[in-house]
Amino acid sequence: KKDLTAYSICSDARAMIKKAREDGVETVWDRLEEQEPQCGFCELGLSCRNCIMGPCRIDPFGNGPKRGVCGADADVIVARNFGRMVAAGAAAHSDHGRDLVETLHAVAQGQTTDYGVRDEAKLRRIAAEVGLEVEGKDVKAVAAALADQFYEDYGFKRGSMSFLGRVPAKRQEVWKKFGITPRGIDRDVVEMMHRTHMGVDNDAVSLCLHAARLSLADGWGGSMIATELSDILFGTPAPATAKVNLGVLKADHVNILVHGHSPIVSEMILAAVRDPGLIAKAKAAGAAGINLAGLCCTGNELLMRQGIPMAGNHLMTELAIVTGAVEVVVVDYQCIMPSLVTVAGCYHSRIVTTSPKAHFTGATHVEFDMHNARQKAIEVVELAIERFTARDQGRVDIPGEPVDIMTGFSNEAILTALGGSAGPLLDAIKAGQIRGAVAVVGCNNPKVKHDYQNSNLIRECIKRDLLVLVTGCVTVSAGKQGLLMPSAADLAGPGLSAVCKALGIPPVLHMGSCVDNSRIIQLCGMLANALGVDISDLPVAAAAPEWYSEKAATIGLYAVASGVFTVLGLAPPILGSKAVTDLAVSGLEGVVGATFAVEGDPVKAAELIDARVRAKRKALGLTP
Ligand code: SF4
Ligand code: FE2
Repeated sequence: KKDLTAYSICSDARAMIKKAREDGVETVWDRLEEQEPQCGFCELGLSCRNCIMGPCRIDPFGNGPKRGVCGADADVIVARNFGRMVAAGAAAHSDHGRDLVETLHAVAQGQTTDYGVRDEAKLRRIAAEVGLEVEGKDVKAVAAALADQFYEDYGFKRGSMSFLGRVPAKRQEVWKKFGITPRGIDRDVVEMMHRTHMGVDNDAVSLCLHAARLSLADGWGGSMIATELSDILFGTPAPATAKVNLGVLKADHVNILVHGHSPIVSEMILAAVRDPGLIAKAKAAGAAGINLAGLCCTGNELLMRQGIPMAGNHLMTELAIVTGAVEVVVVDYQCIMPSLVTVAGCYHSRIVTTSPKAHFTGATHVEFDMHNARQKAIEVVELAIERFTARDQGRVDIPGEPVDIMTGFSNEAILTALGGSAGPLLDAIKAGQIRGAVAVVGCNNPKVKHDYQNSNLIRECIKRDLLVLVTGCVTVSAGKQGLLMPSAADLAGPGLSAVCKALGIPPVLHMGSCVDNSRIIQLCGMLANALGVDISDLPVAAAAPEWYSEKAATIGLYAVASGVFTVLGLAPPILGSKAVTDLAVSGLEGVVGATFAVEGDPVKAAELIDARVRAKRKALGLTP
């Protein structure tokens, strides 16, 4: 076994990896070691099992087969595999968005009393923005019309998708020129499945361009709908402080964790843990109270809107249970390792699944829908109280003290902090106090040291006077290092530091969950429009230093297709095709005005980003 410091930079993670070993619990790192060496063909994208004449694989060294049984070469196989990866990622985030459309629809039709519209002003603003009549209409009528409008974005849309009006005109021209304007979320995802069936699209460039189009249907479609409707239904985030790391668990409380992505379930759990009757029951069972904390993106949703503490990110999910202090982990969908059921089985903990789309063998399934959610949440909390009575306090070890974080930077909140418009931000960018902005987003991956690349890339960026925007699991990486507090301004370059101190904000702004990357591209669109340029002209960049998921591939591609240079910390499985790799790292510049780069070293990644920012500033006539 490797030394613990090889696995994570976080002391809470290392303490729990050690405890997992002592308790005989297998973790993600153990299973990665068992898998190694991983398949080189698959790593390069050179294996195909799209049909039953196969499976096939291409020899990257040129001695063995150069074509699959059907005749597909390395370029076609890699492009097809990548296309399906992007389609799966878009499907996940956009299907999450669909659940919010259905919730809004149910609210509008009076089919649920469990949910409602919490931000009516935003509902009216968004409805007007997408061209709906709102004057003189009541909330339910506006909600009904907006839900119907968004339903169409998923299907056989005629005319433009709802949010494409947010895309700067020059960007829309680029998309039109290369035929990558998204047409409909489900349509573009399904079309990728069609194109990658044997014998349909057999040109790597054509496949990659469609992958770009479908990623845009997610970024400016499904994910954006998820974000905006979550704000309408649960409140638009505003700055607040909260806490992060495993220390947010409380040894004397019933501990409930929410994990997954959608706020639809986690918001109901939040309501239930605040129920005085249930708190009394918990006390009667010997607990001091009920403690709720988040993991991954649904944790980000509750953190952004409600200030609920975050226990950890992707690689902390197993380790949270290893504390022995978690009664129940309530999950919805996405990024929930099936191993959690096994880990929970080593303690008194239960995994509660809630979505008809996501069953886990061995878990307790309590199905939530629009009509029963409040009641089901109460049942889950009651289960947690019952589990508390089975907890073995002798096996409890909660490592460390929680760290303070600042959260809640929706675009609305950012504009408010700036005094009502993006003007002051643009002025600071023009003056070179803030040289540019970098979205550092994405996941963790056991192939790299947990949180090392995420947090160090952020440090390197703020040092260079680059404002950093974070979402998803990177939020926790940054937060645990103290980077989400205004005091982190001391780690920033002189310009950024001065701006942050004047505004009382951190140099790293938490903008939400992974679907909330749509907030960041919307912000890019607003800045480009204010300057009368394309997004690709802005001194901005994106990075996913520790990404693991198909969704991250989709986000990276919609960032690039929107004109944002994007650095990945790990290579996607495309290196088996020179054509696809060249397109990704250079050819796309001539198409969408941005490319990918792959760089795992945070200092080198920051230098690549800095070079892009310098070039873009120079082209805008600004000091580099
Ligand atoms: Fe092999 Fe072609 Fe079938 Fe893929 S589609 S498994 S390369 S025959
Ligand atoms: Fe996520």
